[in-house]
Amino acid sequence: MIESSAKSVVLGVTGGIAAYKAAQLVRDLQRHGIDVQVVMTEAARGMVTPATFQALSGKPVHSDMWDASVPDNMAHIELSRGKDAIVVAPATADFIAKLANGLADDLLSALCLARECPLIVAPAMNRQMWENPATRRNVDRLIRDGVAVLGPASGDQACGEVGMGRMLEAGEIAEAVAGFLAPKLLAGARVLITAGPTFEPIDTVRGITNLSSGKMGYAVARAALDAGARVTLISGPVSLPAPAGAEVARVGTASEMFEAVKKHSARCDIYIGVAAVADYRVDKPSRHKIKKTERDQLNLRLVPNPDILAWVAQRPRPPFCVGFAAESRDLDAYADEKRRRKKVPLMVANLAQEAIGSDDNEVTLLDDRGTHKLPRAPKDVVARQLIAHIAKLYGAKRRKAE
Ligand code: C5P
Repeated sequence: MIESSAKSVVLGVTGGIAAYKAAQLVRDLQRHGIDVQVVMTEAARGMVTPATFQALSGKPVHSDMWDASVPDNMAHIELSRGKDAIVVAPATADFIAKLANGLADDLLSALCLARECPLIVAPAMNRQMWENPATRRNVDRLIRDGVAVLGPASGDQACGEVGMGRMLEAGEIAEAVAGFLAPKLLAGARVLITAGPTFEPIDTVRGITNLSSGKMGYAVARAALDAGARVTLISGPVSLPAPAGAEVARVGTASEMFEAVKKHSARCDIYIGVAAVADYRVDKPSRHKIKKTERDQLNLRLVPNPDILAWVAQRPRPPFCVGFAAESRDLDAYADEKRRRKKVPLMVANLAQEAIGSDDNEVTLLDDRGTHKLPRAPKDVVARQLIAHIAKLYGAKRRKAE
């Protein structure tokens, strides 16, 4: 059984231009499996209509402190009870000032003051307002009070100026909230992950590689970080930003990846090989660019690369090992054969033609107890479910060893 623990938040929308991004944020939070109840300030209602948020969240939007539709007429207390967090995005300078001083003169500020759950704010304002000593004091006060502050970012502003104060993008906020709410299933565990393709040179400018984007491996790294693990990510050549909080080693060839894994594997509890490692490399890559000749054939001699996953799994006291098998047919049979041959307790099988480069993935988990098919979902959602499954198996292994 794959566990899913549904989360729910109040999304507070205040009256900044960035309120339009909050509509996308509802969608992005839902994509992470987070249920959203929207509460708007009066000023926010002047920016985006409540009907937009009602349609997106599937729930009536609240703004009124004495909303008769809330059963006991105590909207300022009731709406956040049982919620996992209140997320205020955008949070204007004015609203941040209210929070810092404990004011409660409208529904959203009263909800924040009466809350039992964590508060997360995503500031959005003009750069002068952000830099003003009053705002600096208020933000410092919020941080000291234990409020999580996401952003802001630097960039073009609605007022035409450029600088700090722009709200983070909806996707970034949703990811941070999902990470904040994720159960800390791997607290303290050291996790080593490989991701992306490898690049095997033919000469100084050419090489053999594959279409792996690194998206799945990076999503697994973020999910492990969110679960409280210490993560080392060994990445082949990809154009993805390093997951915040991970130690990242960038490599090119399978041999370099192998060396990096050797260096880190003795100090890890869990090894997850997501990388699409080239099975072969060119025996002696040319030290100069190969010239075209009149010959109609150019033969490259390929020699096998070491199997990194199998090497880690055969160490004297191996970490809990997880492999990824990308197959184009007979998925479960090939993946299970690989699992047994490489002697790993868990293999994640996916169809190569559907998984590689895509934002979504559909995987089957194969372990000693059988197969578990996960529904098709964005890679970060799949990664969270995978980490929950790994945490369960890893926890059972540790209990057995004790
Ligand atoms: O390429 P293959 O299907 O055998 O990959 C299955 C698993 O083995 C993946 O987790 C991959 O990272 C790992 N692997 C490896 N070293 C190789 C080939 C594959 O670690 N040379």
